[in-house]
Amino acid sequence: MADGGGFGVAAAKVDEARLWQRHVDMAKLGGTPRGGVRRLALDANDIAARRLLADWARPHGWQVAMDAIGNLFIRRPGTDDAAAPVLSGSHTDTQPSGGRFDGIYGVLAAFEAMEAIAAAGIRTRRPIETVVWTCEEGGARFPMGTMGSGVFVGRTPLADARAVADYDGVTVGAALDAARAALADLPERPLGFPIAAFVEAHIEQGPILEERGLTIGVVTGIQGARRFRVDVEGADAHAGTTPRARRRDALSAAVAMVGALEAVFHDDPSDTVRFTVGRFVVTPNAPAVVPGHVSFTIDFRHPDEAVLTKLGDQVEPICKANARACAVTVTQTSRGKPVTFLDPVPAAVEKAAAGLGLPYLRMNSGAGHDAGPMQIAAPSGMIFVPCERGISHAEAENATPADLAAGARVLAEALVELAGR
Ligand code: GLV
Ligand code: MN
Ligand code: MN
Repeated sequence: MADGGGFGVAAAKVDEARLWQRHVDMAKLGGTPRGGVRRLALDANDIAARRLLADWARPHGWQVAMDAIGNLFIRRPGTDDAAAPVLSGSHTDTQPSGGRFDGIYGVLAAFEAMEAIAAAGIRTRRPIETVVWTCEEGGARFPMGTMGSGVFVGRTPLADARAVADYDGVTVGAALDAARAALADLPERPLGFPIAAFVEAHIEQGPILEERGLTIGVVTGIQGARRFRVDVEGADAHAGTTPRARRRDALSAAVAMVGALEAVFHDDPSDTVRFTVGRFVVTPNAPAVVPGHVSFTIDFRHPDEAVLTKLGDQVEPICKANARACAVTVTQTSRGKPVTFLDPVPAAVEKAAAGLGLPYLRMNSGAGHDAGPMQIAAPSGMIFVPCERGISHAEAENATPADLAAGARVLAEALVELAGR
């Protein structure tokens, strides 16, 4: 087969309308009345998304396989098929009231790039694979994020991931077994096979690209994150009969803790600290009962490891100092150091963006991504495209077909470069 030529040939075969239609089709799996998507990790829609991808791969004759943590791989062979593949992809799961692009764009851009490379008649030395990483969105269903990529690279033992339970007590293990049964026809892929590089296209970059009128973000790294769960234990009591001095009100104490934390976790005017209490559970949550238990989460992110240590280490003492008559337990549920992506991946992305004449910016990621854990296994990197008003993790997520296609064009060229000829 003739090789399809030089730079830009693969990008020229990216089909903007096809890529957009695939987003429309995927948005039906877990689509919400307000135009968003609720597709929680390993739920029926998340499994259906894998099935739909497998269906789209079939006409190409590409092998589709799944590993023990539910990661899905769609493989276009290389001329040296024993060589370690270059992977590209992202996640199909969303936040509980998520949108039509976070995660799925990276999967569909990878698939589109593979189709474009094939349509251009380009044969790469290394295989190229589109990948779906299981359960990227930590806390949306299961508390553990970047789970599939984390298990793939050995950050998380498979048994530990399988033991994680969702808020209803369903374990990852049980959900995985159900997914496996629904996709029983797909062959098994070993966990953690060698890979040459990983590239991920994504929208989660905030308002930066849109505000500057840029089309592409060449991602240089990911900021670090520390997550905590705070459990405040008081005592249930009658709202009408219990005097103030006798109350052990877990909600009042938790509110005081959050107020005290917010007074410390900011760094105006630079506004680099990211501090979020995103889940707050009051028990028994009844109007006539002084609440005896509160559990809340803290999501704290910063690009500087020293700041992550200094500020993050204050969570427990601040909570203890504001516990009033209650007991408080602070548990750090995850800690991810800042990640720096390694060449040749950012270099390949930059070369593609520049070569295609697209205005781009080298930038760090505020959001977490599977490319973070993947950097443990192989040089990794990312391509950002603009999203409307910078909104993600919301039903209002939006992006233009042209920007999505531009990102896929950069990805196609970067994949050809990384997979070699
Ligand atoms: C994932 O999107 C995260 O950054 O929380
Ligand atoms: Mn996300
Ligand atoms: Mn994402």
